[in-house]
Amino acid sequence: MAVSRIVLLGPPGSGKGTQGKRLAAECGMPQISTGDLLRRAVKAGTELGQMAQRYMNAGQLVPDDVMLGLIREVLANAASSGFILDGFPRTIAQAEGLDVMLVEIVQPVQRALLLDVDGEVLVRRISGRRVCANCGTNQAPAADGTPAAVGTRCPNCGGELIQRDDDREETVRKRLGVYDQQTAPVVAYYAAQRKLARVDGDQPVDDVYAAMLSALSN
Ligand code: AP5
Repeated sequence: MAVSRIVLLGPPGSGKGTQGKRLAAECGMPQISTGDLLRRAVKAGTELGQMAQRYMNAGQLVPDDVMLGLIREVLANAASSGFILDGFPRTIAQAEGLDVMLVEIVQPVQRALLLDVDGEVLVRRISGRRVCANCGTNQAPAADGTPAAVGTRCPNCGGELIQRDDDREETVRKRLGVYDQQTAPVVAYYAAQRKLARVDGDQPVDDVYAAMLSALSN
């Protein structure tokens, strides 16, 4: 695949993490999820984590200057082998800051993939999401759509399955509102740069992945 510097865009629950991890594993590029980085900082109780937790639990974005500092550090190690950015940039200020950083190292974003999914589907998906408190893996619901029970064990590592603090329905709806106000303009930003491809994210996971590969090879 010729494209190696990719931004994954899409509302909360659209499948960025699911697809980003698979793309990273199959294409040998690092997936950089700012949500995962922040959750690790929260778990470790660092200064960044304590500050970020307040915003995350309220369904709000962590301030741009903090996020730009974090991504600058990560990209300093990763940019030469390409990257899949998941959950960053989320504001126009972050998109512009990222462009400035990447121009400095002559590694511009090549493609932005938007995973398109309707809001009510997202609320249902996220309210039923269960993640492992230890390894962070998503536990898919049963075939009839029933989510795994909170407190049961992760099949990968035996850790406890929990609901993310920001996955309660009320917070999910706030996050969707924040996406519409602050992140949707980033879609237009990449469209204006002629880097945007839209993928229907409301289909089975394998079909979404195939559509992404096709968008990346065109
Ligand atoms: P973050 O962790 O990035 O959350 P998000 O963008 O809201 O995305 P999610 O992790 O909820 O969903 P996803 O799109 O990855 O979907 P997933 O694959 O898990 O950020 C959390 C918070 O951190 C933010 O609210 C903010 O406070 C802060 N933050 C992070 N980055 C920031 C930044 N740049 N600036 C400022 N603040 C920042 O899938 C969801 C569920 O659906 C799963 O259960 C999955 O199994 C299921 N699923 C996936 N695909 C399908 C499918 N095709 N069909 C059916 N089910 C599916």
